[in-house]
Amino acid sequence: MTTLQRAEAAEHALSQELDRIVVKSVIYTSGERDPRVPVPRPPDQGKLYMMGQDPRLSRMPDRPTLFDFFEHRFAPASHVLQSARLAQKSGAGEKVVLACLLHDIAIAGFIRGDHGYWGAQLVEPYVDEEVSWAIRYHQALRFFADESVGYKYPEMYVKLFGPDYKPEPYIERDYRYAREHTWYMTARLICVNDLYSFDPKAQVRLEEFTDVVGRHFRQPKEGLGFDASPAAHMWRTIMSPTRYL
Ligand SMILES: [Fe+2]
Ligand SMILES: [Fe+2]
Repeated sequence: MTTLQRAEAAEHALSQELDRIVVKSVIYTSGERDPRVPVPRPPDQGKLYMMGQDPRLSRMPDRPTLFDFFEHRFAPASHVLQSARLAQKSGAGEKVVLACLLHDIAIAGFIRGDHGYWGAQLVEPYVDEEVSWAIRYHQALRFFADESVGYKYPEMYVKLFGPDYKPEPYIERDYRYAREHTWYMTARLICVNDLYSFDPKAQVRLEEFTDVVGRHFRQPKEGLGFDASPAAHMWRTIMSPTRYL
């Protein structure tokens, strides 16, 4: 058996323990398998397909709040919590603190690639435009130094991507656009507070940000995912990532 076949067999065994059949979305498996080849169907054993909350995941409340997502889907979220605390300590405004708290939620609970763009879209209906704008552009700005605020190209990126890595043209284009924008510094401050926030020992509680979130995040009364906003479906997918349709 190849590694992929073994993984599939293990997965198959696991899904047999469930009383519903789980079929993974192509984006879960692309790379491990060729997306042009149809995903093999598990044998039909008279079971129904997963159409609700996956019992392997912690159950979300019926009207989930932002904090519920932090608890059930983004935990431990230490990186963004530490980043928000650092911003708060440095005297940044509440919008910047919120932007820091939300800047990497796409990595924490959704999709890594282009996480700034995904993260911005997730929160766009619920925050000031400046906050989602900053989240979108922090991704591009991370790759470019700004000595005026003491921001250097991260050493960590040299380790992660190699010394010769050059961001793709769209990242460079978006950096140049953001550089000239009125809200440039808001996005830049995410990077400034991002850089040093990887202390594994620091414990930051979500409740430290209850007030900031209460003032600047328009929590929908129907719950995130059920409010018919342009981002609601994305929150539903985070809630139930294995739904068949
Ligand atoms: Fe980021
Ligand atoms: Fe980050």
